[in-house]
Amino acid sequence: MQANELLDVIFRWAHLIAGIMWIGNSMLFNWLDRNLIVPPAGDGHRRSQGKIYMVHSGAFYEVEKKLLAPGELPDQLHWFKWQNFLTWLTGISLLVVVYYMNGAAFLIDPSVRAMSQGEAIAISAGTLVAAWAIYDAMWMTLGRKLPGVATALSFALLFGAAYGFTLLFSGRAAYIQTGVMMGTVMTGNVWMRILPSQKELIAATRAGQEQDPTLSLRAKQRSIHNNYLTFPLLFIMVSNHFASTYGHHLNWLVLFAVMVGGAGVRHFMNVRYAGKVWLFPALAMAAIGVGGMMGVTRIREAPAVTIEGNVDFARALDIIQKRCVQCHSARPSDPQFPIAPGNIQFDTPERITAMAARIKDRVVVNKTMPFLNRTQMTEEERAELGKWVDLGAQLR
Ligand code: HEC
Repeated sequence: MQANELLDVIFRWAHLIAGIMWIGNSMLFNWLDRNLIVPPAGDGHRRSQGKIYMVHSGAFYEVEKKLLAPGELPDQLHWFKWQNFLTWLTGISLLVVVYYMNGAAFLIDPSVRAMSQGEAIAISAGTLVAAWAIYDAMWMTLGRKLPGVATALSFALLFGAAYGFTLLFSGRAAYIQTGVMMGTVMTGNVWMRILPSQKELIAATRAGQEQDPTLSLRAKQRSIHNNYLTFPLLFIMVSNHFASTYGHHLNWLVLFAVMVGGAGVRHFMNVRYAGKVWLFPALAMAAIGVGGMMGVTRIREAPAVTIEGNVDFARALDIIQKRCVQCHSARPSDPQFPIAPGNIQFDTPERITAMAARIKDRVVVNKTMPFLNRTQMTEEERAELGKWVDLGAQLR
């Protein structure tokens, strides 16, 4: 195992664990908030915001959400901040290991836009910083007076950035870059806006004062933003498994549909506890996400070349040996892939025919193979290989 792959495994594993803890916590608290049994007004529970009883792990939990009287502050108070920080840190580490190192080979796609490793990293890292700065400044100013306008602008900026990334980076990197950008904004919200508000609450409680409610309202607003971003973000994080999404020529449109659908599902899960109709609207939003993904990925690019007549196995093999075995063989010659990626090897006719359907998908339909077209496959060769599969992937 190479150092690069080892770091990839370690960071990815930790990222998943931290991410489950962070998002899991945040969903649990959201759920708690929405299920509190709120005490009737004026019955002496002035500071209480509600109670809830749960059963889990062999006993009952009685949880009350409330403000504390001065001096009532316990010695041990649990925060939930490191889960988020570790998720972000391991995510950024993954971005560096997978996308910035090795000449930024996964980030740059010369057929999308040729650039140097330095340029690609500068754009990627720069847009992350800029995204937080613009978003935060907007919500500190415009967002205070006209939250509706700020919301619309935030969506426009997010979609604009995602679209822009597809014009700059490889498809899979464009998706991930969008996800890292959302995750960075979410982490900024936690550390720069939500945690300071909680510190204020503690300080105010200690001093026996009421907390400035605007601060907690602003923190709540950021927390809602994070809440809506979770579902789209989680799709992006697994999108690298689905070449027909990020590899599609309208990959940005697929992403828009999934983001709208995902955030929409989250919305109706949120309003559920306000006693509103939620199941059918949530299903409708899921249909927008999944249906959009299905619909858009069905749009085919007009074939650049059409092949008349038969393409036999000898010709298919010829193409594969010229364009694929550099990576997909028992001993790849491409220095970046000392082991065949995904253990896909094209050394025997049987292994080739067994993969015929995937080959057509990756080479002809979404053109995500050869990897970043590093072996300079031509449109003609793609069409020929596709035709061979269409004719039944025969061994003659
Ligand atoms: C420069 C290296 C490289 C070359 C050349 C290359 N591939 Fe790949 N291939 C990869 C990598 C990396 C992966 C795994 C990542 C991914 O799926 O995008 C992969 C994965 C695949 C998969 C499996 C993924 C799936 O969706 O099931 C198929 C099929 C595939 N390649 C076919 C081909 C064919 C056919 C060619 C030649 C036309 C080719 N590759 C040329 C690097 C390469």
